[in-house]
Amino acid sequence: MELWKKAFLQKYPKLKVYQYLEPHPKHEITMAVVWKHPVGSLMNYPNLACIASFGAGVDFILDDPTLPKGVPITRVVDPMLASDMAEYVVSTIFSRLKNFRQYHHDQNSRAWKPKPYDRIQDHTIGIMGLGTLGIALAKDLIRIGFKTTGWANSAKPASSIPVFIGEKQKTEFLNQTTILVCLLPLTEATFGILNKDTLSQLPRGAYLINVARGGHLIDDDLIELINEGHLSGACLDVFHMEPLPKEHPFWKHPKIQITPHVASVSDPASVVPQLVENYDRLQEGEALCNVIDLLKGY
Ligand code: OXD
Repeated sequence: MELWKKAFLQKYPKLKVYQYLEPHPKHEITMAVVWKHPVGSLMNYPNLACIASFGAGVDFILDDPTLPKGVPITRVVDPMLASDMAEYVVSTIFSRLKNFRQYHHDQNSRAWKPKPYDRIQDHTIGIMGLGTLGIALAKDLIRIGFKTTGWANSAKPASSIPVFIGEKQKTEFLNQTTILVCLLPLTEATFGILNKDTLSQLPRGAYLINVARGGHLIDDDLIELINEGHLSGACLDVFHMEPLPKEHPFWKHPKIQITPHVASVSDPASVVPQLVENYDRLQEGEALCNVIDLLKGY
């Protein structure tokens, strides 16, 4: 919080910014900027007119049963978040193609074991979720030369890749995807979508990258499919519980690579101006940017 407060004040010294844990006049607060806030902490702000997520996701806000009703919720849409995400996913894909993880293990045991590697043309990357992040990733993958497809729940006319839509076209999408990237928002409809049924429809040897939310994945189903050889492995950046509990089997699984929710992290320098833009709009009574649709949940 300290870092963000500094970033706000450095750029906009006239703003009044309070950290949640320091004394603050509740009736003066018109905008709350939050990331995984404690449940109940948004109550009793009589003049709250906007709840802004520090990140792209808002699932943690909608999960708060004490959320004040009728206050618009905004999310971050940021080119830096999108390019950071694309860089993470592209690095992970190349690491998989060139067996870097396996060589890391081999190095630990001083084992010299050359393995066949894959090429760009050996893979079809399937992106689940074609929002800002998914579309930016698709563009990079195409530029590099990967055959890339997407799955979404509605048509994406502006998309430069073939898009499969809804339940009806999910099987067709999965059947041809050798590396599946999940970038879906977490909603009631997508909770647990990466389950045994879905993942079994990928071709044998497929690889999963989940950079969306832990709630999309049924952990035991992933482990079962990897252990029986249907999937070749997975890279996971997000988990049901974060930090990932020490006893969780993902920590030690040789074919699962984990990172601590760092695929794409909001950068204050890039995000503060858009939060302040919305703050100004609030003062002027103008429409806010990047307001989420409560019915859709994103
Ligand atoms: C986000 C995230 O939602 O980092 O921005 O997960």
